[in-house]
Amino acid sequence: MLILGIETSCDETACALYDGSRGLLAHTLHSQVALHAQYGGVVPELASRDHIRRIHPLLAETLSRAKVEASQIDAVAYTAGPGLVGALMVGAATAAGIAAALDRPTIPIHHMEGHLLAPMLEADHPAFPFAALLVSGGHTLLVDVEGVGRYKVLGESIDDAAGEAFDKTAKLLGLPYPGGPNLAKLAERGKPGRFKLPRPMTDRPGLDFSFSGLKTAVLVALPPNADEQTKADLAREFEDAVVETLVIKCIRALDETGHRALVVAGGVGANRRLRERLVADAAKRGAKVYFPRPEFCTDNAAMIAYAGWARRTDAIAATGALAARARWDLSELAPPA
Ligand code: KG4
Ligand code: ZN
Repeated sequence: MLILGIETSCDETACALYDGSRGLLAHTLHSQVALHAQYGGVVPELASRDHIRRIHPLLAETLSRAKVEASQIDAVAYTAGPGLVGALMVGAATAAGIAAALDRPTIPIHHMEGHLLAPMLEADHPAFPFAALLVSGGHTLLVDVEGVGRYKVLGESIDDAAGEAFDKTAKLLGLPYPGGPNLAKLAERGKPGRFKLPRPMTDRPGLDFSFSGLKTAVLVALPPNADEQTKADLAREFEDAVVETLVIKCIRALDETGHRALVVAGGVGANRRLRERLVADAAKRGAKVYFPRPEFCTDNAAMIAYAGWARRTDAIAATGALAARARWDLSELAPPA
């Protein structure tokens, strides 16, 4: 069964083809980073317009790389939320159009379920059940994953998401958008231990997070006219604070669930220091950490095509109502029909 996946929930336009027996055949992506950089963040209206410009050329490129004809597609999976509604509508309408023209069904996919299942695209992937840390620009969630669609949210951020905290702190340090990877790069040159920031909510039980206080702490610690080394040292301490906080809660989640596998997904999952610390600390517990390859940590359509395959029994007629939801709680999902 051949699934076309389409992702347009934020600032990446992406297409992928996943085959149930042959695996991932091709995936393509256009990042809007350059388009939004001058505004310091994603401008929703510009994002929607750019998705419209990019989606069809990407689709043609994906089919050509996979060496398949559109007529061979069995179903079209698309990100139905959560995300920017105008951006989601481009993917939803494109998916419905292609599916209707081919007389095939569509499969609406929850973006975070895509991230959760992304490690399944790798040869070395976990078996259910596992604990999952979803860390992106919009979400920080710890999830108990019993199977596809069987998700229990163990904890989440009560304010800023981890990626959002990276992005906002990067801005404070004068770094260009997108902040996360730029801050991580600056932190490489920073001396650890010169500054001391809090590890929010680690001193009390529970698995919720709070990251908004950290950026305020950075603002307070940042001397006026700070030189490059000072900024690098502060970036290093900020990264250490976020990483340590995430690691403490992940280990707690493994202890509470008894699971021996931890999946890490979402853009912040590309952070090298987070990956290293999690692997080391989980190993001490006899647990193994599974990461998607870095390009499948950030937004992509391979994970949407895969989730579409996992939910192939949920396919619906392309002529039905389009789904595009700005907000959509992961725990609302049910297992595939
Ligand atoms: O999952 P994603 O691509 O988009 C969504 O938010 O859905 O995640 C993007 C987030 C941004 O906040 C970005 O700054 C952060 O992931 N990010 C990183 C790194 N790479 C991306 N944060 C820290 N270190 C990185 N290496
Ligand atoms: Zn995402």
